[in-house]
Amino acid sequence: MKYVIGVDLGTSAVKILLVNQNGDVVQEVSKEYPLIQKKTGYSEQDPKSWVDQTVAGLSDLIRGFNGIPEDIEGISFSGQMHGLVLLDENRDVLRNAILWNDTRTTAECKHIYDVVGEERLLAITKNPALEGFTLPKLLWVKKHEPDIYEKAKTFVLPKDYLRYQLTGELHMEYSDAAGTLLLDNSEKVWSKEICDLLGIDENLCPTLVDSHEEVGRITSEIAELTGLAISTRVFAGGADNACGAIGSGILEDGKTLCSIGTSGVVLSYESSNDKDFRGKVHYFNHGAPHAYYTMGVTLAAGYNLSWFRDVFAKAESFEELVSEVGTVPVGSNGLLFTPYVVGERTPHADAAIRASFIGMDSSHERKDFVRAIMEGITFSLNESIAIFRENGKHIDTIVSTGGGTKNQEWLQMQADIFDARIVKLSSEQGPGMGAAMLAAYGCGWFDSLKECADEFLQVDKEFVPNAFNVEKYKELFSLYQEVYVQTKELNEKLTKYRK
Ligand code: XUL
Repeated sequence: MKYVIGVDLGTSAVKILLVNQNGDVVQEVSKEYPLIQKKTGYSEQDPKSWVDQTVAGLSDLIRGFNGIPEDIEGISFSGQMHGLVLLDENRDVLRNAILWNDTRTTAECKHIYDVVGEERLLAITKNPALEGFTLPKLLWVKKHEPDIYEKAKTFVLPKDYLRYQLTGELHMEYSDAAGTLLLDNSEKVWSKEICDLLGIDENLCPTLVDSHEEVGRITSEIAELTGLAISTRVFAGGADNACGAIGSGILEDGKTLCSIGTSGVVLSYESSNDKDFRGKVHYFNHGAPHAYYTMGVTLAAGYNLSWFRDVFAKAESFEELVSEVGTVPVGSNGLLFTPYVVGERTPHADAAIRASFIGMDSSHERKDFVRAIMEGITFSLNESIAIFRENGKHIDTIVSTGGGTKNQEWLQMQADIFDARIVKLSSEQGPGMGAAMLAAYGCGWFDSLKECADEFLQVDKEFVPNAFNVEKYKELFSLYQEVYVQTKELNEKLTKYRK
């Protein structure tokens, strides 16, 4: 039997999957690393911790592997998007990586609009200037840490740095490059125009490759540390959302994905990049050749639940925390939650907004709060689905992945709020599986990613909308949408009191 490895470099942990030729996950290892949050709105990580934990995870995996390392033919990567890793002339890391959920760059976003122009930026990159994207981070370092910027010779994204450390080869691939705001989305080249206008040396941008492209082999040093064979072929990989789409079979028109993890996304396959969503949703290059996807992001999705648990129920597991939500009726007994604990992205690109519980009543119990949080997260994702629908997309079936599938009530809630059939896959490994599939396709096991998905992915369960709940949720959704409008100004006034 032959195998491939999919490495998903997430925000809180790296998850490594060993997948055989039938698509079975035969081994799974996960290793955590910390977030560094020096100020409110700041979110950083030490790139070394990604490499150390991945190497530790790979060696655990190989230690537990029954076959011979040479049977592992390929390895590929999925990674948290947008994070800025700056390297000097020796390719040493110059500062902590500034992550996708870091929102310190509001002024830089404004600067991009002032200099490039909103229309022009949209025409070139297909995306608006958002705090989370890489270009504003690069400009922030240029302005606030000029000594470091001076020394920078190249920038990469998190999984590119990891792959560089495993192979000695430095590249970036299109699906992640699309999230930098420096890629000309149609021409698939770095935008000289944007670089020139903003005074960025184009040479900082690394060589671009396709997601399934072979970019090197494991170095002998890493082979020694992990037990991997030096014959293992390394493929570029993709952004976590692109890999999540591949790993969930979102590989043809009409397919839509909802993924609830730390952040949440709703993502839909696009065979071309000529639709016009006016930048309301992201429009990125897919990891599948010649394809794109549109996507809305809820900046904090599952993160609201982990925050709530850490503050109010530290000793409990996630399963315990959500165990009673089925006993709470639709609408959480009049409690409404907006999931903005770290700001929001779609449809309100707003770094200052914060979460609210509206309608707290002395009769409310903790389980009402938990259900309200789950409903609020799902409403937020529904805002992206509403944008897709308003722009003529037909959405009746959605593959659901991530932590949001661990609870049946939440899956039914998604069916009722999205008013769509929800499909849960039997092995729902999302981005890690997508990375493994890129390696499988790259190794030539299949003629296309679609063929690989047909072989690797099976439906486990489906949840159909309950017409009564759908109507109730429609009413509640419009109330939910009002909360942003009503709390925006209040939150702006509160910012000066934050840590
Ligand atoms: C996408 C985004 C997040 C990260 C999470 O634009 O910022 O989904 O990719 O890892």
